[in-house]
Amino acid sequence: MRLSTAQLGSSSRQLSTSARCFGRRAKIRPVQEALHEDRSTSGRRRDANVTKMDRFQLAPERYAGTKTNIKKPVEIAYFSYDSDHNLLPFSDASLKYYYPVLFNTHHTDRNRPIDLSIGFDTFRNRSDSPDEHLDGLLDTLEQLERRQGSKLDVDVITWRGMMTKILTATYEDQDGFEMNATCFQDTIFVEENHEHKLARNGQQNSFNRRGGPPAEMFQYWGYKFETLSMLPKPWAEVSRDVIEAREQEPVENYSQYCSIVKTGIGSTSLVIGGEVDGVTDYKPEDPEAPPRWIELKTARAPVSPRDRQIHDKKMLKFWAQSFLLNVPKIVIGYRSRDGFLENLEELDTHKIPGLVQQHGQFRWNGNICINATGAFLQFLKATVRGEGVWRIRRAPGRPEIEIFKVADSGVGDIIKPSFLAWRKELSA
Ligand code: A3P
Ligand code: MG
Repeated sequence: MRLSTAQLGSSSRQLSTSARCFGRRAKIRPVQEALHEDRSTSGRRRDANVTKMDRFQLAPERYAGTKTNIKKPVEIAYFSYDSDHNLLPFSDASLKYYYPVLFNTHHTDRNRPIDLSIGFDTFRNRSDSPDEHLDGLLDTLEQLERRQGSKLDVDVITWRGMMTKILTATYEDQDGFEMNATCFQDTIFVEENHEHKLARNGQQNSFNRRGGPPAEMFQYWGYKFETLSMLPKPWAEVSRDVIEAREQEPVENYSQYCSIVKTGIGSTSLVIGGEVDGVTDYKPEDPEAPPRWIELKTARAPVSPRDRQIHDKKMLKFWAQSFLLNVPKIVIGYRSRDGFLENLEELDTHKIPGLVQQHGQFRWNGNICINATGAFLQFLKATVRGEGVWRIRRAPGRPEIEIFKVADSGVGDIIKPSFLAWRKELSA
């Protein structure tokens, strides 16, 4: 248990205050205002009302030579979004089953590359402008807690995407990120800062428009590859016609299956929710059984040493994303510059760090990533405590992650009111 009895008291006050006074979407102070009040970080904690900057150093060499324990991620809950993106807690309606795309195999007489652009004009691409906060995750966790009759006892609750950014941060310094965090009833809730995400996506899109296909086409190729490689039901329940009609199947990204796992990195326990692309053959009923998740990715086949470097950095992201949910297999669909699928590669997630260490042009170290993540989570627990909302920020190219307070009270927009109300009901 991290917080003192006094802090627990303030947490339950926070519940009523945030639900009653601030309503759903309490205002978070702008970053500039918070930065204006930036104070030095000489280690000594200051008055909680004074905004200050805490910094976590990312240099990989700091995290070499130790070993951080990982608690095997086990699925504790799951949900589907249907094809209109409605949330279905504890439903596997959108779970997909892997069956390799039909080309260059004995299943088919065709061996020409597949054009991933086909059907782009009918792509149902979900806008990323609504801010979903942690809503789907919290609605499902509320159902889980209602079933159990008790609250989840865990240090951190977040989306897998946030943990991927942390896990890769020692080696990936180009992207940058911003998150919001709040501590509520002994648990730190972390969400992406949506405005920052939209601004970044906007920048990337304008960059991509300078030549070649539009940014949306790159995205389409990824989802098209998924559609070509997945079945809506286990293979034995699907007709050959359905399998062969996958090329004509419209592509959409409204539906998803998300797995919610409990895991531990070092001394920090976590509940992480994230999308999984599908399973090979079936989903085991026993959550402790070896999972059969499969992750699909598209990538340009590296040719030059420079390409190889870019690819090895991509492999860091592929590995991190899959490692966090215990996804054992990744299938990479290699494509040409203009979106023709040329080749498939099946990789065991746990072998990727070793492969990159042996043959890589860009040699990241998976143990260092895990050690740094364990240390960061400890730093997070020491920093985000008591009332308020914090910003977690990595500026592109900077060797550190900064955490600073942006609201002195409430939980910001991070925790939805219905979840706060549920927890109030539970502790009444
Ligand atoms: P690729 O990964 O093959 O590029 P995921 O691999 O995480 O399941 O995501 C599926 C697809 O969503 C990706 O396929 C890509 O097309 C799109 N996608 C994921 N993250 C994205 C991002 N940050 N920006 C744009 N598209 C993204
Ligand atoms: Mg994928």
